Amino acid sequence: MGNTTSIAAGRDCLVSAVGGVAAHVAFQDSLLYQATAVELYNLNIPVTPAAVTYPQSTDEIAAVVKCASDYDYKVQARSGGHSFGNYGLGGQNGAIVIDMKHFSQFSLDKSTFIATFGPGTTLGNLDTELYHAGNRAMAHGICPTIRTGGHLTMGGLGPAARQWGLALDHVEEVEVVLANSSVVRASDTQNQDVFFAVKGAAASFGIVTEFKVRTEEAPGLAVQYSFPFNLGTPAEKAKLVKDWQAFIAQENLSWKFYSNMVIFDGQIILEGIFFGSKKEYDELDLENKFPTSEPGTVLVLTDWLGMIGHGLEDTILRLVGNSPTWFYAKSLGFTPSTLISDSAIDGLFDYIHKTNPGTLAWFVTLSLEGGAINTVSEDATAYGHRDVLFWVQIFVANPLGPISQTTYDFADGLYNVLAQAVPDSAGHAYLGCPDPKLPDAQRAYWRSNLPRLEELKRDLDPKDIFYNPQGVQIVS
Ligand SMILES: Cc1cc2nc3c(=O)[nH]c(=O)nc-3n(C[C@H](O)[C@H](O)[C@H](O)COP(=O)(O)OP(=O)(O)OC[C@H]3O[C@@H](n4cnc5c(N)ncnc54)[C@H](O)[C@@H]3O)c2cc1C
Ligand SMILES: *[C@@H]1O[C@H](CO)[C@@H](O)[C@H](O)[C@H]1NC(C)=O
Ligand SMILES: *[C@@H]1O[C@H](CO)[C@@H](O)[C@H](O)[C@H]1NC(C)=O
Repeated sequence: MGNTTSIAAGRDCLVSAVGGVAAHVAFQDSLLYQATAVELYNLNIPVTPAAVTYPQSTDEIAAVVKCASDYDYKVQARSGGHSFGNYGLGGQNGAIVIDMKHFSQFSLDKSTFIATFGPGTTLGNLDTELYHAGNRAMAHGICPTIRTGGHLTMGGLGPAARQWGLALDHVEEVEVVLANSSVVRASDTQNQDVFFAVKGAAASFGIVTEFKVRTEEAPGLAVQYSFPFNLGTPAEKAKLVKDWQAFIAQENLSWKFYSNMVIFDGQIILEGIFFGSKKEYDELDLENKFPTSEPGTVLVLTDWLGMIGHGLEDTILRLVGNSPTWFYAKSLGFTPSTLISDSAIDGLFDYIHKTNPGTLAWFVTLSLEGGAINTVSEDATAYGHRDVLFWVQIFVANPLGPISQTTYDFADGLYNVLAQAVPDSAGHAYLGCPDPKLPDAQRAYWRSNLPRLEELKRDLDPKDIFYNPQGVQIVS
């Protein structure tokens, strides 16, 4: 970058990379740059990229990567822009952003049921396309405006993942632009190292321009349930969480059963979905195991798009959603052999009871995963949490301005109660819930896969072009 001449030359390089179309690249001096090009998602992490590009073809992306390399810029892809750390914008000032909005192509091969689509496809559109093209489906998270580019490259936890694996476990092949600006295909049979790295750590290795995924027949029957609990004492709340944990930790629990417990300031919600009949659902006996005096809802659904539609997402999206806000989040993973002790659950609610959160907009989720996810070996993909049974995510937001120290302290304190009681749980952090303040984050995101990723990083991206503050680093 440095001097004015090279900045001007870098600009020219980017403009010609996107076919000479001035509207396909925005620079810091462009009109309404922050509002219309940068579009921060987490307002708590201000980031100003050097430029935002909107390439229309893989070759244009390769040309943008070449400019970044030649003029010493960092470069990151932005697909849905929902990264908690604004990592799609580089996560720090001065990066070149490759916005994937022109990559929302979709097709389904009717004989293999392999779907091919671009990283700019939203999860909501993907579901609709798959369903209408041939009654097909895949597992992924709950927010319909997330895009596949960021979701299928770091994990993808959601209600159907216990049956079908993570969103990234569906991926059979990718097209990716590497740091040397070559375009390669990666799968189990070609560029296997790239394939391994892209499935869980893509942001550090390249720009995915196309996915080919395995799909499943869309389920035709499911039961969606949601029970609110307005409990009084910390001990009553703790008992509910203990009972939930004991229930979901049963070894023979059906993979068709998904469950999420959401702890809000005033209320706890037990919600989820069972991909089966009402009769099988009734055998789980949730209503008697988790009795509540509040009216809950139990819906029998026969339409796949309805099953993954609203019900579930509303609980969380009522606090965070599609519009940018100030927030901070942390995650921990619990395995069947590192469950939360009763005394730690008591400690958690004592802490909540005694501590001022500094905001009403906070929640903690406990989300059941495991199942098919954990049948994949830990070293098969960069995603390194194949032993996790459930994830805890702590989320604090402030709709009015930056997160206050009181609120940071509240979230960190909650995290510490769990981390101190179950030290192993803090060794797992979910990359889909990045925590920019987490020390040694790479070890917690990739665990036993980190050494191989670091080695691949040296080979595939020696200049560390694909950089964000918590990406795989070059270690000498
Ligand atoms: C409201 C909300 C609900 C959520 N619910 C869930 C959930 O249920 N389950 C779950 O697993 N996660 C969930 N998440 C997390 C979400 O899956 C991740 O934030 C995901 O990375 C977002 O992808 P994106 O493309 O929208 O974001 P982006 O910010 O565009 O991308 C996220 C990261 O991926 C990289 N990236 C994006 N596109 C590409 C590409 N084409 N090639 C290489 N790297 C790329 C970016 O550089 C960035 O580092 C949720 C997030 C939000 C905000
Ligand atoms: C770019 O890197 C890939 C992966 O290391 C390699 O296969 C390819 O040959 C390289 N291309 C060029 C032009 O150097
Ligand atoms: C799992 O096993 C336990 C103990 O054997 C039994 O009580 C329970 O009903 C079983 N649950 C399911 C879902 O099959």
